[in-house]
Amino acid sequence: MATTLISGGTVVSSTGRGPADILVDGERIVALLHPGTTALGANLAETVDTVIDASGKYVVPGGIDAHTHMSMPFGGTTASDDFETGTRAAAWGGTTMIIDFAVQKFGERVQDSLQTWHKMASGQCAVDYSFHQIVGDVNDESLAALRRLPDEGITSYKLFMAYPGVFYSDDAQILRAMQIGADTGLLTMMHAENGPAIDVLVAQLLAEGKTDPYYHGIARAWQLEEEATHRAIMLADLTGAPLYVVHVSAKQAVAQLAAARDRGRNVFGETCPQYLYLSLEDNLGAAGFEGAKWVCSTPLRSRQEEHQDQVWQALRTNDLQMVSTDHCPFCMKGQKDMGIGDFSKIPNGIGTIEHRMDLMYQGVVDGRITLERWVEITSTTPARMFGLYGRKGVLAPGADADIVVYDPNGHTSIGLGKTHHMNMDHSAWEGYEIDGHVDTVLSRGKVVVADGEYRGRKGDGQFVRRDPCQYLI
Ligand code: URP
Ligand code: ZN
Ligand code: ZN
Repeated sequence: MATTLISGGTVVSSTGRGPADILVDGERIVALLHPGTTALGANLAETVDTVIDASGKYVVPGGIDAHTHMSMPFGGTTASDDFETGTRAAAWGGTTMIIDFAVQKFGERVQDSLQTWHKMASGQCAVDYSFHQIVGDVNDESLAALRRLPDEGITSYKLFMAYPGVFYSDDAQILRAMQIGADTGLLTMMHAENGPAIDVLVAQLLAEGKTDPYYHGIARAWQLEEEATHRAIMLADLTGAPLYVVHVSAKQAVAQLAAARDRGRNVFGETCPQYLYLSLEDNLGAAGFEGAKWVCSTPLRSRQEEHQDQVWQALRTNDLQMVSTDHCPFCMKGQKDMGIGDFSKIPNGIGTIEHRMDLMYQGVVDGRITLERWVEITSTTPARMFGLYGRKGVLAPGADADIVVYDPNGHTSIGLGKTHHMNMDHSAWEGYEIDGHVDTVLSRGKVVVADGEYRGRKGDGQFVRRDPCQYLI
């Protein structure tokens, strides 16, 4: 087994920081050596196979992106990153594990869809991966299959209160699924938007000739996110199911989650970088069809209504617990352009997997969150939330050696043209400048990114079975 010493860096965890060297043997961390530690020998650097000099840099647990959609069939097309390209881009950006969504469509069997996603991902991934299960057709058979998911190492599933006729579940279906969530401890992940009401507004806007991408944000009003979030919380309350609301963007939805948590409920929420930096006016409202780049659901919210500040604050105060990307990329040419003249035909999704660690680090530089909170919301909490903690999300003996050396003196320009590695013909983040840089990335002990080079290969990443959410008692 190859040994690696990461020396001279500042190790940062969710609870603190300090100088320490990290010794890796094979795929695992075997020791953290704090200054003055000699137990493993003073000449360690001469005996290990590889020494990585992390002087002046932070050493943090690899990022975990718990919300991605590789090759997702959606909006009349398929997300443009597959497991190979998407996880390679993840590695470039310091993310060493993803949790993607297996998709049960209407009329399909849950277990078949899970096998399909296993086949798509197996042997393709650059970093480790797991799945949540989308249940797009709640019925007796799919509910029985839901109950068996923990045996497959899948401990969370997603329902949609949006997208009628596609993935939508009504309240009766949600109630029945949540009863199983309460019984089994499966975490219910909810897309909380009132889909039927949105569809009425979409039809009315289009009939008035309001066809630009901007109107995607008008139709998906914050009231419809707040209402659905409240309804999901009440159904979870009634059934006793643990609830995790995905891609939260409206400050009013955040308030609903905070109130439920204040009542002691097992209610959690994630947000995404797009809701922290991008807005209805500046992005969805860009000239011509340009705004299509930023069509996603929930939508970007109004800058004037100050949702962004509230979402940042909620991240700092733990009213929101973590940041995922909801990575669901589509190209402008041949995909997003299906919606020219009708915003409702623009496939919903943004690609961010490569930039999540950087964009959230910028929050540290800008004084929004602490360095430790950065580690917590990008790695440690995702690990705990989805039953991976101990193996992932922490730098400690016995943990997988998923490690990022991050350079606070480096710089990352998300520049014009193709400066990223995602399979997209544009970037939603073009022009963003980050005051930091992903320097070196180890995935289960193997250096996959170093010196500006990708050194991994497809198949390095393995499927990881998950335990139940580790916040539940
Ligand atoms: O716009 C989005 N969010 N696309 C991906 C599907 C989903 O709802 O997460
Ligand atoms: Zn969703
Ligand atoms: Zn999603």
